[in-house]
Amino acid sequence: WPLILAGLALGYLLGSIPFGLILTKFAGLGDVRSIGSGNIGATNVLRTGRKGLAAATLLLDALKGTLPVLIAGLWGEGPALAAGLGAFLGHLFPVWLGFKGGKGVATFLGVLLALSPPALLAFAAIWLGLAFTLKYSSLAALVASAATPLVLWALDHRQVALLFLALAALLWWKHAPNIRRLIGGTEGRIGQKG
Ligand code: G3P
Repeated sequence: WPLILAGLALGYLLGSIPFGLILTKFAGLGDVRSIGSGNIGATNVLRTGRKGLAAATLLLDALKGTLPVLIAGLWGEGPALAAGLGAFLGHLFPVWLGFKGGKGVATFLGVLLALSPPALLAFAAIWLGLAFTLKYSSLAALVASAATPLVLWALDHRQVALLFLALAALLWWKHAPNIRRLIGGTEGRIGQKG
């Protein structure tokens, strides 16, 4: 248990760093939460028109999921899974931002990279396929994240599949406004300025 809690804490600490907010502030773009969807993630950073910053946000928000899982993985499987959960919760509910964080797609990817690269490839294929055809970042992420626990189960990563079932449920819950906009036909397309 101490190592599980250590994994959870390490994950949360790294996961709660809001890279999208930090990078856009440093670039002199103001508060990314005041534009587009108001989210701190890469999709919304892209709405500032700065592709490089959006890519950096995606990469860093993913790495903050990968790193704690790999470190805690040295302590065992349980701590690694706890670190993944912690990182995801840290991104969604960062204490530094009054628990109002992001929607979790990049961090979901980063944790998946550390726990099952083949499942990450499946996620990427689904996401890219949908994002390039339909141009909705949120819809692509919703479908790809829902498929992930099934892919993991099929790959026989049972415990990891259960973790990702929980992460996907949280991701869907945080995307409630996007789901409403998708149904209403008002969701912003990828790259559309906000
Ligand atoms: O990763 C978040 C994406 O799925 C939706 O972002 O800014 O359009 O709400 P956004």
